[in-house]
Amino acid sequence: TMSTPIPQPPTIPFMGNATALDRDVPHHSFTLLAKTYGEIYQLDLVGRKLICVSSYALSNEVSDEKRFQKRVVGALQEVRNLVGDGLFTAQPEEPNWGIAHRLLMPAFGTLAVKGMMEEMRDIANQLLLKWERFGPDAMIDPSEDFTRVALDTIAYCSMSHRLNSFYTEQQPEFTVAMGDFLSESGLRARRPRVLQAVMRGATVKYEADIKLMKKLADRIVATRKAHPIPKHDLLDTMLNSRDPKTGQAMTEQSISENLLTFLIAGHETSSGMMTFMVYYLLKHPEKMRKLRAEIDEVLGERLIQYDDFGKLPYLIAVMRETLRLSSTVPVRAVTSLEDTTIGGGKYAIKKGDTITIQAWQMQRDPAVWGDDAEEFEPERMLDGKFEALPPNAWQPFGFGARACIGRAFAWQEVCLVMGSVIQKFDLSFVDPSYTLQIKQTLTVKPADMRIRAAPRTSGT
Ligand code: HEM
Repeated sequence: TMSTPIPQPPTIPFMGNATALDRDVPHHSFTLLAKTYGEIYQLDLVGRKLICVSSYALSNEVSDEKRFQKRVVGALQEVRNLVGDGLFTAQPEEPNWGIAHRLLMPAFGTLAVKGMMEEMRDIANQLLLKWERFGPDAMIDPSEDFTRVALDTIAYCSMSHRLNSFYTEQQPEFTVAMGDFLSESGLRARRPRVLQAVMRGATVKYEADIKLMKKLADRIVATRKAHPIPKHDLLDTMLNSRDPKTGQAMTEQSISENLLTFLIAGHETSSGMMTFMVYYLLKHPEKMRKLRAEIDEVLGERLIQYDDFGKLPYLIAVMRETLRLSSTVPVRAVTSLEDTTIGGGKYAIKKGDTITIQAWQMQRDPAVWGDDAEEFEPERMLDGKFEALPPNAWQPFGFGARACIGRAFAWQEVCLVMGSVIQKFDLSFVDPSYTLQIKQTLTVKPADMRIRAAPRTSGT
């Protein structure tokens, strides 16, 4: 049987389709391209072919680990400049991935993460206290404060280091370096080589940011090695455990690179999720009321506890629905292990071709989610409906061996922070006509959103 050519937008000499991608927010271009070309299209990015799939059926097919595996390309490839073959950015064939993965899996399990509850609360309280003290008139940038929470939480839980982001007017040096590094990594991936060569200023800043972050991580590892503390955080696990399969220990460099990996992978993802969550709840007051009623009934005015998470199904549904509509990791890349076809023989794929799964389109496929796929409807995640979804239909944490190792961590953190925020504050948009704007680095998150947080008085 003959396969169908994969559609491709018109190309420009020497540039291919590179100009088809928005410089600042390529996510917008992928959305537009999917609208124009449908379930699959391909781009020529100056010598690099990228196949993009947007439907559930094709995404599910390329989520088969027997035929496809993760490939680190584009911006992730650039992030290796800081974290090398750390868990997130390792190519599948690199041995440090397996060592770190096997050694760390138990430390990221539900039970281990449950043990981090009070550390998480320590940081969450700093956000609650700040909003309470600033009062009902303060203009809050939720994205910035959730980033403080997420970054401080992962630094504190992984290596018992306090970044103290809530105690500085500006974001701390490290946070700024991290943000700038991630943005620049994305830009570098999309810049033609000739242009990159003349971007001397950007390169100097990029390298200085890398140095600053490495220095902190290296120092923390060296200090801990010299002065062990009686604490079972992730750093302790990495220093003192062995890979159960090979008996190998992680090298000091690998430990340092994985600490930085946790900071990268664990902050924008969760903070973006919490910001999207606030956005959707403020746009849908009836869902906010429903969530508030659930939280009030279960918690009243007492502190949220680990055991409460199981009693807050609507909170969980809101979290799931937020990540369905707005996965903060918007694309994942895989390569084919063989020459093959997808779509029932329709599209030819060559061994080594890079295929990206477009999470925002895939998780809005009407074939799975129905005619109201674009609507924010947490109810579709309730009463066993989530469990009954077809495989890989809801995939914001990736899939298979390379799925998110921090899922339980993120879930607990967001339950704790958002459960407490909704319990304690009446949130509102500063500009009620705000419509969703997107900012993109490695992840996507709402931009330019401002809110007010009025502490609730009893009985409201
Ligand atoms: C991998 C999403 C939170 C650490 C991934 C992947 C996704 C993802 C989609 C797979 C990427 C790929 O296929 O290339 C998310 C989301 C989060 C979140 C949506 C929050 C809402 C976290 C947290 C941590 C973390 C809190 C760390 C504490 C990692 C690591 C990997 C990963 C280390 C690489 C795993 C591997 O390849 O072995 N995450 N993540 N993530 N995530 Fe997360």
